[in-house]
Amino acid sequence: MATIGELARQHTALSKEQISHLINLSSEWGMLADLCFSDLMMHVPREDGTWIVISQVRAATGQTLYIDDRVGMTARPGDVPLIAKAFDTSTIVEDEIFFEGVADDCRMMAIPVVHQGDVIAVMSREWSRRTGRQLGELERHYLDLFNTFASMIVRGDFPFPGRVADSSVAPRVGDGAIVLDGKARVRYASPNATSALHRVGISTNVVGQTLAELGVTDSSVRQAFERKEPVVEEFEQSTEVTLLTRCLPLVVTTDGDSEVTGALMLVRDVSELRRRDRLILSKDATIREIHHRVKNNLQTISSLLRLQARRLQSAEAKAAVTESVRRIRTIALVHEALSREPGDDVAFIEIVRPLLRLVEESLQSPDRPMRFEVMGDGGRLPATVVTPLSVVLTELLQNAVDHGYTEGDGGGSVVVRLGCTDTELTVAVIDDGRGIAPDFSLDDATGLGLSIVRTLVTTELAGSIEMRPARSEDLEAVGLTVVEGNTGTVIELRVPMEGE
Ligand SMILES: Nc1ncnc2c1ncn2[C@@H]1O[C@H](COP(=O)(O)OP(=O)(O)OP(=O)(O)O)[C@@H](O)[C@H]1O
Ligand SMILES: [Mg+2]
Repeated sequence: MATIGELARQHTALSKEQISHLINLSSEWGMLADLCFSDLMMHVPREDGTWIVISQVRAATGQTLYIDDRVGMTARPGDVPLIAKAFDTSTIVEDEIFFEGVADDCRMMAIPVVHQGDVIAVMSREWSRRTGRQLGELERHYLDLFNTFASMIVRGDFPFPGRVADSSVAPRVGDGAIVLDGKARVRYASPNATSALHRVGISTNVVGQTLAELGVTDSSVRQAFERKEPVVEEFEQSTEVTLLTRCLPLVVTTDGDSEVTGALMLVRDVSELRRRDRLILSKDATIREIHHRVKNNLQTISSLLRLQARRLQSAEAKAAVTESVRRIRTIALVHEALSREPGDDVAFIEIVRPLLRLVEESLQSPDRPMRFEVMGDGGRLPATVVTPLSVVLTELLQNAVDHGYTEGDGGGSVVVRLGCTDTELTVAVIDDGRGIAPDFSLDDATGLGLSIVRTLVTTELAGSIEMRPARSEDLEAVGLTVVEGNTGTVIELRVPMEGE
């Protein structure tokens, strides 16, 4: 469906400012319709003399006359004379209108919408007196307010310029309405507003008193009166109760001087909403804290193992324990990254980088200088994928260094290449080392390192592994060249990703 801005641009020659005035007005639509218990339509004139409806709203407080959506249609022929009259005379006009199927007594009020002295549209209020509400105190106050806003629209005082409050949380009339007079004293409080005030402990008769006298924060009211523009404020009246208020000043401008004659304050009790927000926040914080503690515990374990390795005599045992230390530190690294993230996923690159540093620190030796580099991006991955993948990556990097080069031969380069699509993540570890033996077969490899890799990739990640001597294009793609006698090795992992 076309938006109000699109329709106005398409059918009229209105300027950008004029159109944004109409858009601002339509964001106050709900409130205005609720105040007058009626349907509202916004009409703009086309070059050819016809009128088109660019916005429509039904009242949450009353019955609608329109079952169909009329946005984008031309105005009903019977309505045009009244609409045109309001437009031509710049005054509010009201008359009876006829509705198919509705017996009688339908009325329309046509309100010219003025922007900087020019009539740019006509807003119509349409209602049936038969199905309308009985006039009680609430109805009188609301209609009074509607008429005040209508005259503000005709003078160009309403809608207020600037950004309009986020309508998804902003209080509506039905949430609770308090009418204030020119001295900010309460003239009327709707039943829902009275209940909201009850919840914050105000049970006296509020009429005639200011909010400050009642013990309610009135800074939004003071600001609205001073700045002559609407003010949204949320305040915790007590630890249990949070109120969201929107205070709209009622402004009368004559000869450039504007005066605030009162205000409408909409009140919404958002305590439950905020309580849930806080719960979610604290749950996130708890998860982060747990990751942090897991990381600390893993670091303690790896320190203990390192101490143990130092005391071991057998070189083989020492190497085995040292490798375990490295594996544990890798997992700790993942938890550290997760402890910084609000959710349960993390940008893989944020883990790969520190992982490379970790490997660099632990494997570097002066006789075999190694260069590590990462290329591409792995996107954001859930914790369940990141942890096994990081362990796998550590093994592959360790293997590249251990088996690709010999001490004293000048070292080499290892590149981690990441790539991701919506459905698949690829991780390749490419080295320019000696290369795998011609009779090497991944399936027959019995070392612990590749067994870990195989188990994690095929079972936990449901992915596949390919291990092969590097082809020249593999090496070129990542800027490597092999020295005489070497072939280089590529190990490529493919992990399917679940769509969002
Ligand atoms: N990048 C590589 N270049 C050359 N050979 C490799 C490479 N990666 C693995 N290999 C070969 O695969 C074999 C098995 O590796 P695996 O990681 O399973 O065991 P390991 O490294 O020997 O021992 P562990 O990892 O348990 O300490 C290695 O011994 C080596 O021959
Ligand atoms: Mg290994």
